[in-house]
Parts: sequence; structure tokens; C-alpha cells
Amino acid sequence: MLPGIEVSMASNTNLNIAVIGLGYVGLPLAITLARHFPVVGFDIDNTRIQQLSMGYDRTLEIEKTILKETTLRFTENISDLHQQNVYIVTVPTPVTQDNLPDLHPLQKASETIGQVLSKNSIVVFESTVYPGVTEEFCGPILERVSGLKMGLDFYLGYSPERINPGDKTHTIEQITKVVSGQTPKVAEILKNIYGVINNGNIFVAQNIKTAEAAKVIENAQRDINIAFINEIATIVSKLGLSIYDVLDAASTKWNFLKFQPGLVGGHCIGVDPYYLAYCARKLELEPEIILAGRRINENMGNFIALRIHQKLQETKSQNTIARILVLGLTFKENIPDLRNTKVIDVIRTLKSLGYVIDVHDPFAEPKEAEMYLELNLLQNLKGNGDYDCIVGAVAHSPYLKLTVEDFQVLLRPAGLIADIKNIWRNCKLPESARYWTL
Ligand SMILES: NC(=O)c1ccc[n+]([C@@H]2O[C@H](COP(=O)([O-])OP(=O)(O)OC[C@H]3O[C@@H](n4cnc5c(N)ncnc54)[C@H](O)[C@@H]3O)[C@@H](O)[C@H]2O)c1
Repeated sequence: MLPGIEVSMASNTNLNIAVIGLGYVGLPLAITLARHFPVVGFDIDNTRIQQLSMGYDRTLEIEKTILKETTLRFTENISDLHQQNVYIVTVPTPVTQDNLPDLHPLQKASETIGQVLSKNSIVVFESTVYPGVTEEFCGPILERVSGLKMGLDFYLGYSPERINPGDKTHTIEQITKVVSGQTPKVAEILKNIYGVINNGNIFVAQNIKTAEAAKVIENAQRDINIAFINEIATIVSKLGLSIYDVLDAASTKWNFLKFQPGLVGGHCIGVDPYYLAYCARKLELEPEIILAGRRINENMGNFIALRIHQKLQETKSQNTIARILVLGLTFKENIPDLRNTKVIDVIRTLKSLGYVIDVHDPFAEPKEAEMYLELNLLQNLKGNGDYDCIVGAVAHSPYLKLTVEDFQVLLRPAGLIADIKNIWRNCKLPESARYWTL
């Protein structure tokens, strides 16, 4: 029994929610929940809390007017978390340098909650993990710090997050949410809480480990499918074919899965398979396909850089140092997220081959690019030109609008347009330009 919490679609009294970690996942969730429940948003990053309080979201997920109007209370003080009875954890789950799960943020968040946890509360984890982390890693920390017993004094839940930053279609109100609880009653309560924000579009998983496994395989499956297409891209590229032409033809078959080739970066698809691989090894199983996929995708930046180099060598004039303009640095289109971007692999390999590289990105934060990647971004494209090569690395929407005239200014005659992301394959380009895509 959870006497402190009674939630139904009709009644959401008695609930006080805290969202722990206000990043790409936590902020939109907290804002949405705050339309229905009293919600406190907690983050250890005090700059983030100050910016959000002033109406600025650096992830560009939430507009200023919404931040200004929300009833969500932003805080960095643990003392503001005492009144809550539902804690939702959305902290990062990165990997170490050796690609092993780094559970430190989860540990810290669990310790924080343990300090304020009261009887009959629910702690829900949304961070992507491998099966067992919620009950076997986080639960014991909560018990140790709070002195309470899980499954008796407080309860665990897991509800994986599926949002896709930058995607305004698959928002949390629109997508099916998987929930799971330590007991059927907890699962029922979570079903009702989350159901309030997405019209009851909830799938209740069998148990917490099943929900944890479901999330991590969603992303591992995507990674492997992309790796397959990347491997095919390397093969057809050597045959002088374009993978995009091959995909256009193959995908006319009704059951062909049309994944796209490319750089798999970010902190989900490129990271989560390592969590699954770690779990498999703990069980003394060798995760062969999962890690093969990771290896192929990790090597893609290098492969692309070497192909660009080869193309540039074909028309190289003596003793000149070629200048390359890279368009796009973030790990995917139309977001400012630079974490684990693989465009940097292309840039570093090209630099090591002696090219002079300029990088432009309309979404990335220049200070972050400088601090984490040691790159000084071009402030804009005006006043720059005569490059030997333009690399379309990220399909940011402004790049889709580049005109023949823009290319003529940016690219020297007979220069190379290397279109990694298939941005301009069907666009009009300067006649003198050479075009290469995967
Ligand atoms: N971003 C996505 O596309 C996405 C999608 C689905 C699932 N996920 C998963 O959701 C989780 C969060 O990802 P994200 O992209 O929102 O990360 P993020 O880095 O954007 O945000 C995490 C926030 O948590 C804060 N934080 C770190 N440790 C904390 C602590 N101990 N207490 C309080 N706050 C703390 C950070 O300051 C940061 O603001 C990860 O497990 C990720 O794999 C992410």
C-alpha cells in the first residue's frame, strides 16, 4: 500500500513531484508535468538553474515564454526536495574512457534523494541503463542513505525516455511511454501520472528490468542497423557507387529497412550499446553483434575523411595546402548538442593529413566548441570563400537552403562538395563543382 499517494486520471491531488537533472530529457518532462502537478526541478549545475530561472534554455528545447510562464520551480538546493513524494531521475548515463558504464551521476542523484526521502515515496529512474541498475545499484544507495527499506518504506519505478531532441513531432505528449514499478500498485500509479501528460498512451512493462532492457535494446538496435548500412557504404563506395543510390533502389522492396549511413554520435545511440555489452559480459556472454556495430560506427569518421582526402588528391595541384570548410559540428541536425560528436573524427583525420580546416555551425555554442573540442567556429559564412572543399557534415536546416550562388562564393572553381549527409544530392550545384557523397 502507498497511503501517501493516490492518483487517478481524474484526481492528481497528493502528488508532489521532483525532477532530478534538467537537461534534454528532464526539462521538457518537468515543464510538461508542471502543467498538471506541483513540480520542483533540481539540478546540480547552478549556471543551468540561473539560466532557466531567467527564461533561457541552452538546449533550445523550451521557449522563453514557456519558461517564464511555467509553475515549475527551479532549484539547486537539496532542502527544496523535502516535500516531494515522487522523484524522477533524469541524470546522464555516460561511459568511461574504456567504454564502460559510468554510473557516478546516478549514484550522486540517488544519494541526494536518499537524504530527503520520506516513507511511501516513489523514485522513478528515466536515465538509460542496463537491466538491474535501478534495483541493484540505485535502490541500495537510496536504502543506505535514507535508512528506509525499498519495497516496504519506499518504492522504485523505471520509465525509459524516448524523446528525440530537436524533433517537434515525437514530443512526450505524443509518444507511447513505457512504465514499470516494483509492485503492480506502483506501476498503476506511474501509469496514471504519465498518462495525464500523454492521454493515457502508456505501456506497463512486466517489471523494472524488462523496461530497462526494452530501452537499451531500442537504441542498440538502431546502432546496429546504421552500422550495417555504414558497412555497405564502405563497400559500395569502393565500387564507385553511392550508398544513397543503392538505398533508393533497395528500399522499393516492401520489407527493406531504410536506415541511413553516417556518423553515430551523441550520448544515446553511440553510448547505450556499451551498457548492453557490459551487461552481457557480466553474464559471461560475448556481445558480438553489438560491439561489431560499435566498431564500424566508431570508425566511420576516419573512413569518410580518408575518402575526402582521396577525392582531393585526384585533382591536387602541386605544393598547395588545401582549405576545407566543414559545415556542421553538432552530433545531429538542428540542436546545439556537441557531446560525443563524430564530426570531430573527420576534422582531426583531415587535419592530420595536412589540411587547413574551418568549421561553421549555426547551432553549436562557440565557447563549448573551443573548450571541449579546441575549435574556433566561424561566426558566419560571410566573407569566407575560395575553399577547395566544402564538407556537409550535419544537415542543419540553414544548410538545406544554400544556393548555387552561395556555393560559388564559398568554393573555388572545380572545388569538391563532400556531402556526407545527402543534403544537396538533388539540389542544383555550381556546374564547375565536383560532387561526392557516401
Ligand atoms: N537526450 C536524449 O536524446 C535522450 C533520449 C532518451 C534518453 N536519454 C537518457 O536520459 C538521460 C539524461 O540525458 P540528457 O540528454 O537529458 O542529459 P543532459 O546532460 O542533457 O542533462 C542531464 C542534467 O542532469 C544534471 N545532473 C547531473 N548529475 C546530477 C545530479 N547528481 N543531480 C542533479 N542533476 C544532475 C546535469 O547538470 C544536466 O543538467 C541519460 O541517461 C540519457 O541516456 C536521453
